[in-house]
Amino acid sequence: MYNVSEFSFRKIGSNSKENIGFLTPIEENKDIPFEIKRVYYIYGVSGDAVRGGHSHKALHQVLICVNGSVDIKIKNYFGEKTYHLDDPSKGLYIGPDNWREMSNFSEGSVLLVLASEKYNEEDYTRDYDSFIQYIDRKYGNLLSKK
Ligand code: TYD
Repeated sequence: MYNVSEFSFRKIGSNSKENIGFLTPIEENKDIPFEIKRVYYIYGVSGDAVRGGHSHKALHQVLICVNGSVDIKIKNYFGEKTYHLDDPSKGLYIGPDNWREMSNFSEGSVLLVLASEKYNEEDYTRDYDSFIQYIDRKYGNLLSKK
């Protein structure tokens, strides 16, 4: 799905000790494709709650479910797909122009988000009809020029 991708981070364990768990490092412009200007995390969400319901015009993000699991539904010009995040060593990159909804948060889940820009409400599209119009205009024009 264009402008969205799943990837795996390094998962460093130990060859000699079995019980010390894992360490996953994330460096900007190395493990993820942008500079990190902001970090936030979402937690304490009920299993029946839905968050998100917006897109961004310029923001790049990587979502990592560092505890538990969550579903991320993405809608963009090319279709719709739901990603299930349940592994702290995996990330979901979401570029601009993707409508997202987060749901099915497991009890105790923590969703970590690394973002390419500081918080800016102007970058959000929070109305679904406006999102569809914006996407049709932008991508319809782009694709028809090819
Ligand atoms: P929002 O992005 O709508 O959350 P979600 O998509 O998870 O439902 O943000 C919820 C509120 O938090 C909103 O009032 C804006 C505020 N907020 C910040 O102040 N800083 C931030 O970095 C973020 C992501 C949100």
